[in-house]
Amino acid sequence: MVHTDVSVELGRRVARAVGEALGLELDPEQAVIRPSRRAGVDYQTGVAMALAARLGRAAREVAEEIAAALDAADLVEPPEVSGKGFLNLVLRADWLAARASALPGEERLGVPLTEAPRRIALDYSSPNVAKEMHVGHLRSTVLGDAIGRLLRFAGHQVIPHNHIGDWGTPFGMLIEHLVDEGLTEAAGAGSIGDLNGFYQEARKKFDAEPEFASRARRRVVLLQGGHDQTLTWWRRLVEESAGHFEQVYRLLGIELTPADVYGESFYNPFLADLVKELGARRLTRVSGGAVCTFPEGFTNRDGDPLAVIVRKRGGGYGYAATDLAAARYWLEERGATDLLYVVGSPQAQHFALVFAVLREAGWLMAEHHAEHIGFGSVLGSDGRAVRTRAGGSVKLVDLLVEAVDRAAEIAEPRALPPGQQAAVARAVGIGAVKYADLAHDRRRDYLFDWDRMLAMDGNTAVYLQYANCRARSVLRAAGAAPAAGTPVLLTDPRERALLLRVLEFPAAVSAATRGHAPHKLCTHLYATARSFSAFYAACPILAAGAPELRASRLLLAALASRVLTLGLSLLGIETPEKI
Ligand code: ARG
Repeated sequence: MVHTDVSVELGRRVARAVGEALGLELDPEQAVIRPSRRAGVDYQTGVAMALAARLGRAAREVAEEIAAALDAADLVEPPEVSGKGFLNLVLRADWLAARASALPGEERLGVPLTEAPRRIALDYSSPNVAKEMHVGHLRSTVLGDAIGRLLRFAGHQVIPHNHIGDWGTPFGMLIEHLVDEGLTEAAGAGSIGDLNGFYQEARKKFDAEPEFASRARRRVVLLQGGHDQTLTWWRRLVEESAGHFEQVYRLLGIELTPADVYGESFYNPFLADLVKELGARRLTRVSGGAVCTFPEGFTNRDGDPLAVIVRKRGGGYGYAATDLAAARYWLEERGATDLLYVVGSPQAQHFALVFAVLREAGWLMAEHHAEHIGFGSVLGSDGRAVRTRAGGSVKLVDLLVEAVDRAAEIAEPRALPPGQQAAVARAVGIGAVKYADLAHDRRRDYLFDWDRMLAMDGNTAVYLQYANCRARSVLRAAGAAPAAGTPVLLTDPRERALLLRVLEFPAAVSAATRGHAPHKLCTHLYATARSFSAFYAACPILAAGAPELRASRLLLAALASRVLTLGLSLLGIETPEKI
């Protein structure tokens, strides 16, 4: 059977040819087949060059031998060798047409399901209580959501969990401040109002007033000891914050729900046992009054072993201990095979240490996989903090509301029925914010730039959404999308170019999923929208003349729209019918 991902199929064939011609066993994944930028060439592989270096032979010669052994006449024209030893592949027009004609019947557009489904605990968003979410948390939320959707689409089981910072030392001062402000009695959300301000006031008092600071410390002990009254007050802070998070998630259209919240406090009951178990494995040592573990291979600048603090001097537990307990919970209690964490890159060492301890303790085993999916920070267009139109540093909610407002200015002149305007503005505005974040390699910092993210031209959500609207409007005008089996005619290079994009969708989705790299999908969707626009400008669809050509072009437009719609949905972005 021919694989539904053309590049995978070509990779297999090339790997087989390498076996035939050179007697070498090659993992098909190593026979990387890339879409070619050369006119008239669809795909290229540099495998001959890599092998020639290993064999100490001339690359072109090796390429010729692979070409001669390649058994792919059903798929491609006889291959050509170019440059230093590239193998150029051109798909056969009749194969392309037949494949295109079958695609309307394929719900997944050729994207394969994984053969080895995993059970993945996905930690993302994870904001902190009593601090409003800011643009930094936006990245984890938007990236994590897209990564979760991609993994689920691939056939994995994804269990999201929101590791909210709802426990630990800051709560001592927050609760004392709540008491001082007389807010302990007020029930229901809204009475603290500005959570950021509240946190800052508490912090200021903690730093300036020794009496307040010692009250705060005593309060932490009461909290960790399960003191009833303290817990009630703590819960009040948590609930108020949760309300803010929910508001942001709803605006964003994120899949996280209150049921996915597994805050730091959730793992509190497991912490004492964690220390005991680590001790029983002889992995802990008391250092400066704290119980520590020193995973092998980690040293500080002076070459001293790095400590992971499991229990603090005063008996409290910190961030690392909680992460150890959390990981153990997901592995042992919830049967996760994979632990993924979508958290900013500055925490890379924290996770490396945590994973190392988990391995030494025997909790994280060879069949498991743990990975920190790091990302860079969000900067304003001036390279500093992000600001709203009014100036001032931004809360996430305000930022999202502003995005929708700005999008309404785009949508409005296009005279949509009033009922649709709000929904479209939301799809475009929220889509713009999400896409701007997803379209960049997550490891790099990115500039938050209103004008760029809402531009009608360029690699933006609205450009893709708009291309999709044009395709759909043609389909609406035609009445129905052509069914599978409708013959496809390739009469213009732009038809062929668009079709190639459609056929590369599975490879783009796989690459984005494998690397937790949504930007790879964005790049492909952008290329598809551009190819569609070129096709749309050059090839009349409804006015194609011959009915077979009209049907064939409609089918191509329908495929383009399906790629854009499915692709954007995997990124968590909506596709309105009209903009
Ligand atoms: N609340 C943390 C922060 O904002 C992020 C938590 C990430 N997840 C984890 N398991 N440590 O910095």
